[in-house]
Amino acid sequence: MQRTLIIFKPDCMDQRHVGNVIDRFEQAGFTIIGCKLTRLAPALLREHYAHVADRPFYPRLESFMGSRPVLVMGLEGDDVVQRVRDLLGPTDSKKAAKGTIRGDFGTDTTVNMLHASDSEANGRIELARFFKPDELFPV
Ligand code: PPS
Repeated sequence: MQRTLIIFKPDCMDQRHVGNVIDRFEQAGFTIIGCKLTRLAPALLREHYAHVADRPFYPRLESFMGSRPVLVMGLEGDDVVQRVRDLLGPTDSKKAAKGTIRGDFGTDTTVNMLHASDSEANGRIELARFFKPDELFPV
């Protein structure tokens, strides 16, 4: 069983696509192990996006991700990291195929519906960043 960290980005929240996305996760057989609504502070975002913090697009990304409360979620399942990323589609929503979450609802590379961990190791690190141990309920 693998775990991954999902952030429902502000565009997903604003467009009320949360239910649609959770339905896709449940249909895929994944289990929700943690979930909360939270506003992401600049310091937390700078830590989460440290690998792109010096890129020109970072200020827009930080401002967008902190613009409203978002849902953060832990998911568990077989090969969940890659399978969620397959459901999501590529970072650039314009290149995402119809039928993927970004292809159906995303706008561009920043406004792209969800964040999802890109490896099992990062899933563990990111879950620990956004959830206290007693906020996760593995099944
Ligand atoms: S990388 O290093 O470019 O591969 O970074 P990646 O992990 O794919 O992306 C990290 C987040 O940065 C956003 N992003 C961008 N925004 C605007 N323009 C460009 N070119 C761009 N590239 C990446 C993207 O929304 C990623 O957010 P997450 O939350 O990880 O999806």
